[in-house]
Amino acid sequence: MIKGIFPVEKFSPLETPFYYYDMDLLRETLDTIRKETENKPFHIHYAIKANHNPRILKEIASYGFGADCVSGNEILKALACGFSPETIAFAGVGKTDREMNIGLDHDIFCFNVESKPEVKILNGLAAAKGKTARVALRINPNVDAHTHHYITTGLNENKFGINQQDLPEILEIIAESANIKLIGIHFHIGSQITDLSAFEDLCVKAAELQEWFNEKGIRLPVINVGGGLGINYQHPNHCPIADFESYFRLFEKYLKLQEDQSLHFELGRSVVAPCGSLIARTVFVKEGLQKKFLIVDAGMTDLIRPALYQAFHHIENISSDGEYTPYDVVGPICESSDVFAKEMMLNRAERGDLIAIRSAGAYGEAMASQYNCRPLPASHFSDSL
Ligand code: LLP
Repeated sequence: MIKGIFPVEKFSPLETPFYYYDMDLLRETLDTIRKETENKPFHIHYAIKANHNPRILKEIASYGFGADCVSGNEILKALACGFSPETIAFAGVGKTDREMNIGLDHDIFCFNVESKPEVKILNGLAAAKGKTARVALRINPNVDAHTHHYITTGLNENKFGINQQDLPEILEIIAESANIKLIGIHFHIGSQITDLSAFEDLCVKAAELQEWFNEKGIRLPVINVGGGLGINYQHPNHCPIADFESYFRLFEKYLKLQEDQSLHFELGRSVVAPCGSLIARTVFVKEGLQKKFLIVDAGMTDLIRPALYQAFHHIENISSDGEYTPYDVVGPICESSDVFAKEMMLNRAERGDLIAIRSAGAYGEAMASQYNCRPLPASHFSDSL
């Protein structure tokens, strides 16, 4: 076990649970993304929903990357943390008038629109302000991402996106909408995708659709392929950075861009998941009849992924070098699903030991709740502890 990555002695006086962010790893990840995309017509819009901690947002914004927002408040937060409006894409099936107006007021890069009524309402709101809204049509490519069904989004039965048979009608609506400018097409097939062949299927679909638009004489400067690149939750120490090289190479190989076209990505998890760990303290070690329970002071309110998606997170006892022992690691919340892991091999634990729940930087802190009147988890950063 590599315990060295955690400054355990600095953790000792801190109140738990808290999120700990390894800022060097975040910067290394951002450097990698920059290296793999520079000198290409590729643009990154970081998916704010994965982690909206201001320190994290400021770091990502400082690299010049754009933002992918799914609410008006995310747009405001992105702006406050240094993302520039002309890099903000705004997605979501249920944008309210208030939220669309926030986007219009700040002249954001693009609205990813998902339905006919949305186009009509956006056109009206833009007209009222004497503005033109740039839009990309979020098209449902019906590509199976082979991931957990809660985070698969590109299939026909999902609520997201416009079905292909509705495209002619939506183009008619756009043609009649003086304050809408169609600039591109958008897709997102799902999240935590580790079988990259799903992205090849997406490229094939995107190329077909591009051809369809070409035949109608419609130029699309923007192709947005969404996010979804998965990370290795099993081996956070061995594979701390996602395979961005293969990912970007795949799009370069399978999606032939036309002149003046740019390719946009909305990566969330792969950017921030590895750098975050949820640090908790052992409250009790409880001997069951056949099991040992490690009861910690973090719960599903701090990190809901295991309870909601049966997601695996690697866990380490960072206070002990004792012999490896299987524990069910559970939280204090009054729900049977408040379990972080079953039969996890940890160094023998005692009350007070600190444990690290790894790869929790994405959809961890951002999805925390106050159920059971619990406070939201704090956050600490490797460069300011
Ligand atoms: N673009 C769109 C339109 C999205 O819906 C999402 C994520 C992303 C980009 C970013 O995807 P990523 O690169 O992070 O895979 N809470 C779940 C994940 C939900 C993902 C929702 N959409 C989890 O904890 O696994």
